[in-house]
Amino acid sequence: MNLSDYEALDAGAVAAALGELAAAFALDLRPECDSTNSRLLEEPPPDDGRIAVLAADRQTAGRGRRGRTWQSWPGAGLTFSVLWRFTPSAQLPAGLSLVVGLAVARALEELGVDGVQLKWPNDVLIHGRKLAGILVELSSGRGRGPAAAVIGIGINLRLPDAAAVDYPTGVTDLTACLPSPPGPNRLLALVLQHLHGLLGLYASAGFTALRGAWQQRNAFADLPVRIVGEAEALAGICAGVDDDGALLLQTPDGLVRVLSGEVSLRLA
Ligand code: BTN
Repeated sequence: MNLSDYEALDAGAVAAALGELAAAFALDLRPECDSTNSRLLEEPPPDDGRIAVLAADRQTAGRGRRGRTWQSWPGAGLTFSVLWRFTPSAQLPAGLSLVVGLAVARALEELGVDGVQLKWPNDVLIHGRKLAGILVELSSGRGRGPAAAVIGIGINLRLPDAAAVDYPTGVTDLTACLPSPPGPNRLLALVLQHLHGLLGLYASAGFTALRGAWQQRNAFADLPVRIVGEAEALAGICAGVDDDGALLLQTPDGLVRVLSGEVSLRLA
């Protein structure tokens, strides 16, 4: 792909698309950085009451879940991170990554994308193929426990033909989903709008308020699945998620709760 052939991130364009909500965000949009998650974890901006957002046209060391690499090509994806600070009354972030997946799903649905599904804990699939990944990492508050979460989101916009992305059910991008896919600026604004609304609801009412919406989009509802990444293999029927965002597995030994961490879900 020609390097000049894609829309670059532009703070003015994102702010214009956000409208009045722009005042809620501190936008830092860069042509390149190693990993937007790493930068926000290692160099969090001072708290001025706004939600810090760091996005990059290209990451040189993008990170995925379970130690994987999140690959980057010019114009191929939207990659950004959001620093979400907890208020003293806020919920602990057990269901946070599920809420983030739901915000991405709703943004895609608003664009008219068909077949949006969520794979626990937080992959966003379109008819079974991965469109977006989410990496939530807690930033420690200098000995006072977690003070903030860094929410990293990568959405495939236009993957190069030669991209070899390894995923059990395949990957997809927005050009395959929509006749006129949005550029990264409009898409970023839309996801931020949905994140703003859902994180507010999550902070005030917990994951319980969003559990039904997540389950409506559960890619593996009532299907046989297995958990990979645990010392002991675990298999069962996917029975949804509970009020904490834990996965519920119906096994021969009864209902088992699986907390998100370094585990992944696969169709059995
Ligand atoms: C996954 O599916 O494994 C999670 C992928 C998360 C990728 C995003 S891109 C923006 C942010 N910065 C990173 O280094 N990773 C996340």
